[in-house]
Amino acid sequence: MTVLVSGLSGQLGHAIAGVTPARLIGLVRPSVGATRLRRRIESRQGAIELVTGDISVKHWGVEEQVLERLAHEVTCVVNCAGSTDWMGTAESLQTSNVAGAVHGVGFARRLSDISGRSIPYLHTSTTYVAGSAVGTVPETRLAAGGDRTRYEHFKWVGEEAVLRAARTLEVPVLIARFPALLGDSTTGETLYKNSLYLLAERWNDIPLGLLPAMHNARVDCMPRDKAAEILLAVAEGLAAQAVPSGIEFVHIANGAQAPTLRALVEAGRMVDPYAFDRWIRIMPASRNQVVNASALGERFARLDGRWQNALIGLRYIGLDRIFDRSALRTALDAHGKVAIPPVSLETAARLTFGLDGIRESISAPKHRPLARFRA
Ligand SMILES: NC(=O)c1ccc[n+]([C@@H]2O[C@H](COP(=O)([O-])OP(=O)(O)OC[C@H]3O[C@@H](n4cnc5c(N)ncnc54)[C@H](OP(=O)(O)O)[C@@H]3O)[C@@H](O)[C@H]2O)c1
Repeated sequence: MTVLVSGLSGQLGHAIAGVTPARLIGLVRPSVGATRLRRRIESRQGAIELVTGDISVKHWGVEEQVLERLAHEVTCVVNCAGSTDWMGTAESLQTSNVAGAVHGVGFARRLSDISGRSIPYLHTSTTYVAGSAVGTVPETRLAAGGDRTRYEHFKWVGEEAVLRAARTLEVPVLIARFPALLGDSTTGETLYKNSLYLLAERWNDIPLGLLPAMHNARVDCMPRDKAAEILLAVAEGLAAQAVPSGIEFVHIANGAQAPTLRALVEAGRMVDPYAFDRWIRIMPASRNQVVNASALGERFARLDGRWQNALIGLRYIGLDRIFDRSALRTALDAHGKVAIPPVSLETAARLTFGLDGIRESISAPKHRPLARFRA
């Protein structure tokens, strides 16, 4: 299998470059990210090749000569490129997450036309296109709605546009949605910090130490290496035409096994009670309260970027919902792959709160009841 992946210089791309056993071709544009990636894969030059392109233009901006060469090798095109900037303008989000995603369908079609083989397109999206939905979120198309943030909206428009283009151009397509991606499960290495990390960083600034969340709010998050492993297994199945027809979406998520917010926070405290200065309380809130609070920064207030992102992130930890993953299981089973076990609570807590185990020198804790137990 030879997978061509766009966005290899991003968070997920770095993980793919780290775990892939297959031959990999990365599509990158000249950027700081690409330079960093080049340095990183120098030792693996034989297995990973980089080609230059730009997803915002037709055929991802790859020269015809290069297309001809790629067509004879590539078995699946995977799109991990796009804008993940929640504060991005509508124009930049449309260019990367809609136009760029659709150009990917045309790119896969062009490779198929040259090679005479069917080359499928695996597009990545986010489970958060669910907007304010609670309960079980299915692995299907989702309806239009007014509760999405700007980022969620353009990812959703991108999904719809990819499906339409794939039907028109007759390209086999699958959309893989991810929840929050954390750093590597063993090293903790991450390219940047998403809203879950921001929660941990803003811990002491949370007004009154009260965190509003639905009673059984869940936090679904995946270490990036685990997410990459599953994505590659799905790409392999898609290339082998082993994904049952009718499956258009999969959630690469923990589903019903995702921990509740309470469990995650308590696990963090268990792993390293001294890592937290002030403790917080989870305040029961309704769905509307959580959704409205998380929309405050984007719709009404002018907050600095970190606060705004932290507020948006409230809906990713404060809603009681499960991202169904039965289609993912079916797709993996059909290809003889066992479903990857869920991320352990401890790993999730360690990565989210940056807990590296017991600290070498523990200063006296400020929390009195805990201090009682110290020698
Ligand atoms: N990270 C998360 O927590 C998360 C959660 C849910 C879903 N996802 C989804 O997972 C996928 C990958 O996300 P990520 O976190 O890896 O994103 P990321 O770290 O922001 O990386 C984005 C990648 O896209 C590339 N890119 C952007 N515009 C491009 C263009 N015009 N042409 C070519 N490349 C371009 C970037 O290249 P440069 O280095 O040149 O900028 C970078 O490699 C996305 O679909 C995202 O929506 C991510």
